[in-house]
Amino acid sequence: MTGAWLAPGEAVITYDAIVDSPAVVFDRVSFAFDGQVVLRDVSFSVPRGTMRILLGASGAGKSIVLKLILGLFRPDSGTIHVNGQRIDQMSEPDLMAIRGDIGMSFQETALFDSLTVAENVGYRLYEEVRLPLDEVRARVVEVLGFVGLGEYIDQMPSALSGGQRRRVAIARAIAARPRLLLFDDPTTGLDPITANSVNDEVVKLRDIEQVTAIVVTHQIRDAYYVAKHEVVRANGNINIMDVSGRGADRAQFMVLHEGRIYFEGTADELLAREDPYLRDFLFMTLPPW
Ligand SMILES: Nc1ncnc2c1ncn2[C@@H]1O[C@H](COP(=O)(O)OP(=O)(O)OP(=O)(O)O)[C@@H](O)[C@H]1O
Ligand SMILES: [Mg+2]
Repeated sequence: MTGAWLAPGEAVITYDAIVDSPAVVFDRVSFAFDGQVVLRDVSFSVPRGTMRILLGASGAGKSIVLKLILGLFRPDSGTIHVNGQRIDQMSEPDLMAIRGDIGMSFQETALFDSLTVAENVGYRLYEEVRLPLDEVRARVVEVLGFVGLGEYIDQMPSALSGGQRRRVAIARAIAARPRLLLFDDPTTGLDPITANSVNDEVVKLRDIEQVTAIVVTHQIRDAYYVAKHEVVRANGNINIMDVSGRGADRAQFMVLHEGRIYFEGTADELLAREDPYLRDFLFMTLPPW
């Protein structure tokens, strides 16, 4: 097949243009709960293979944005596209297919308490992808290794700490190699070393597997870390390098405030803003503590 065709009365549409449609597009999305407005005319676009960090005060609407992308809520107005498909009016069976390509770790980790860690992580691979059991096990071992929980593979979730449960949820989100990852506050409650191992995994998924990621976080330090690090390959090894010295940016930031995208830009642009709200917001979380 050629790379282009002509639609009646239109310019040439390239096949690549459709394949390369952004991972997520919000166009003038508004959403309210019983008259309490959460989002007002919110528009943004996340290109495939890129990372977007979503910041904002508690209650700003960050988790709602992720739940709208999953089709768990529908907007009151505006349109939402995920992987090139309009999802805001989609039927539940079609939404299930869209969700099959999304890995989500919810803020409140929803592990199945009656299943082991391995069964939780491999659930989708076994139930939906129908991989053979030994392949499921191999992938489960691999992703639990990423989050440093290999030895807990046959434990029940009740035997894990809160932070460990969160890491299991992250392993589960990435197990099926989805093209789009939605992480809701993945590192809150983790010790700094474990938080950084999660950060490094997110960087690797972005740079090696070209996964698109939308990361909601209250941990500005972790947000800056993933924005300022990238995978560098040398002599067959994978290293995670700090790229801040050359002014590189590997993530775009958005700040939600009063139902709108109050800021959109790079980490350095965010730090340089003189805006009083942003200064207050960052002052609470950035050095000097
Ligand atoms: N199921 C619900 N029913 C009614 N109101 C809700 C529901 N879920 C969220 N809200 C309201 O929507 C607003 C946005 O909630 P959301 O969970 O998106 O906040 P958030 O930015 O994720 O906050 P946090 O940082 O605390 O997680 C809040 O005012 C919240 O009270
Ligand atoms: Mg939230």
